[in-house]
Amino acid sequence: MMRKVAITGWPVSHSRSPMIHGYWLKSLGVEGVYDRQAVAPEDADLFYRDFASSGLVGCNVTVPHKETALRACETLDDAARAIGAVNTLWLDGAGRLHGANTDAAGFLGSLDQSAPGWDEKPGAAVVLGAGGAARAIVWGLLQRGFKPVHIVNRTFEKAEKLASYFGSDSIAQKWEDLGDLLGKADILVNTTSLGMEGQPALDIDLSPLPDTAVVMDAVYVPLETGLLKQARARGNRTVDGLGMLLHQAVPGFEKWFGVRPDVTPELRALVVADL
Ligand code: ATR
Repeated sequence: MMRKVAITGWPVSHSRSPMIHGYWLKSLGVEGVYDRQAVAPEDADLFYRDFASSGLVGCNVTVPHKETALRACETLDDAARAIGAVNTLWLDGAGRLHGANTDAAGFLGSLDQSAPGWDEKPGAAVVLGAGGAARAIVWGLLQRGFKPVHIVNRTFEKAEKLASYFGSDSIAQKWEDLGDLLGKADILVNTTSLGMEGQPALDIDLSPLPDTAVVMDAVYVPLETGLLKQARARGNRTVDGLGMLLHQAVPGFEKWFGVRPDVTPELRALVVADL
């Protein structure tokens, strides 16, 4: 039987996952299908609870179902448990549903590939934003030994909530203290939507940042954000947001189809052409 997988969520029309997995299926010669499956909010609970009858062997989960899907899983990986959301599901031979969150792995995999050695001496990190992406990224940084991880967000209460969720190695900070924080940072990550096409620019001054620090922007439209331009101009290593999107897909493909795929320049070019 053809193994069938899909991106599930509401909506799913904008998702780039079919393109990524479609590329791997074809280039690796794997027999399988990766589709889109819209799941309306009122159907979500039943859909994931009764996943074994969906005809799929697994799926990706996108907004707004990442928590609903988590509740339907019999097991969760460490990341899903820590982050409180799943984006990757698979059925085992007995029809039991397992869940994982691969966003942190995607973030880490992207940095490992694009900025080798970036975590050799993990020190302080600064994360801008306190939403869903920040949650996965803060957890990933803590896993690699960065501390403290400073969380800076427009709505301070959300930064406080996220920081207290992960314990004393993550600290909520005020925007006005950003300059001081950057002065001691080994990595800066933007997880806000600032700098994204159609959004206001992310207007920060990187001059206090050590030139050895790595700057990562989770935004990938445009690929080259104002933040990354400024960082590159002053000699910092930079990593764009597309790598995270591509790398978060790797563990799912491996689970469903039994082959670990690579994030190749060819795959990057394919997705870039579609941005
Ligand atoms: P994601 O899943 O991509 O993280 P999200 O959960 O909606 O998306 O989070 C968006 C983040 O961008 C939040 O940290 C948000 O700040 P608030 O918590 O204050 O809302 C941040 N953000 C969005 N627009 C912003 C703006 N105009 N200025 C500053 N921060 C902004």
